Amino acid sequence: MNVPNHIGIIVDGNGRWAVKRGKSRSEGHLAGSKNLDTLCQYIFDKGVKVVSLYVFSTENFKRSDEEVNYLMDLFVKKFKEDFKKFSKKGIKIVFSGRRQPLKKEILDIIDDVTLQTKDNKNGILNFCLNYGSHAEIIDACKKMIEDKVAIDDVNEALFNKYLYNDLPNLDLLIRTGGELRLSNFMLYQAAYAELYFTNTLFPDFNKDEFDQALDSYNNRDRRFGGINYEKKNC
Ligand code: IPE
Ligand code: IPE
Ligand code: MG
Repeated sequence: MNVPNHIGIIVDGNGRWAVKRGKSRSEGHLAGSKNLDTLCQYIFDKGVKVVSLYVFSTENFKRSDEEVNYLMDLFVKKFKEDFKKFSKKGIKIVFSGRRQPLKKEILDIIDDVTLQTKDNKNGILNFCLNYGSHAEIIDACKKMIEDKVAIDDVNEALFNKYLYNDLPNLDLLIRTGGELRLSNFMLYQAAYAELYFTNTLFPDFNKDEFDQALDSYNNRDRRFGGINYEKKNC
C-alpha cells in the first residue's frame, strides 16, 4: 500500500446531511466536526504525514451571520479541546488563511495552538480557515514585493515559503458531498494531486470510505508528465 504523504480534504456536505435529517445546518456542522476527530486520527495512524482540511473558505463569509457565528464558535471550542489530543501524538497544528476579518477570540486560539505545537515532529494538521487559494497566491506575491525579492531569486522553493505554510504538494485531494470542483482550495499545491470525489456527505465519510479513497489512489498511475516504461501498454 502506497500511502500519500499529503492529503487535502474539502469537507463538504454538512448542511445537506442535516437537512436530510430534518435538522439545522448547525447540527450538520457539529456532526462533521465530530467526524473530523476520528478520521484525522485514523489518517495519521495510516502513516500520512500532512493533512490539510478545508473547513472555511474566504467565500463562506457570504453565508448568514448565524451560520458563520456558529462555525466560528465551533472552531474555537474545537481547537481548545482537540489540540492536546493531537499534540500528545506529536502532531503539529498549523493554520492557513487570511487573518482579516477573523475575530480576536479565534485569532488568539489559532496563535496559541500554533505556538504550543510548533516543535511537534510526527505529522502536520493544517486547518484551512478563511482560506482561499487566490487570496493565498496574492498574499504571497505582496509579501515578496514587500521583501524586495530579486527577480532571479524567484523559484518554486522560494514561492512555497511565501505561501501560508511551506508544505509539500498534495498527493491526494478528496472532496466529499458530490460537487466536482475545487472551490478555491489549494490550486497551486494540487498541481499533480490525484483527485477523488465522492457523493458521501462529510459526516458519513468514515474510515471505510477513506480506505476506498486510498485504494483508488493506489490504482492511479502517477506519471508527472513522464512515461511509466514498466507498464505493458506504453
Ligand atoms: C461544508 O459543508 C462545511 C463548510 C463550508 C463550513 P457545507 O456547509 O458547505 O454543506 P452543504 O454543501 O451545504 O451540504
Ligand atoms: C467549499 O465548500 C468550502 C469548504 C468545504 C470549507 P462550499 O460548500 O463552500 O463550496 P461551493 O459553494 O459548493 O463551491
Ligand atoms: Mg457545501
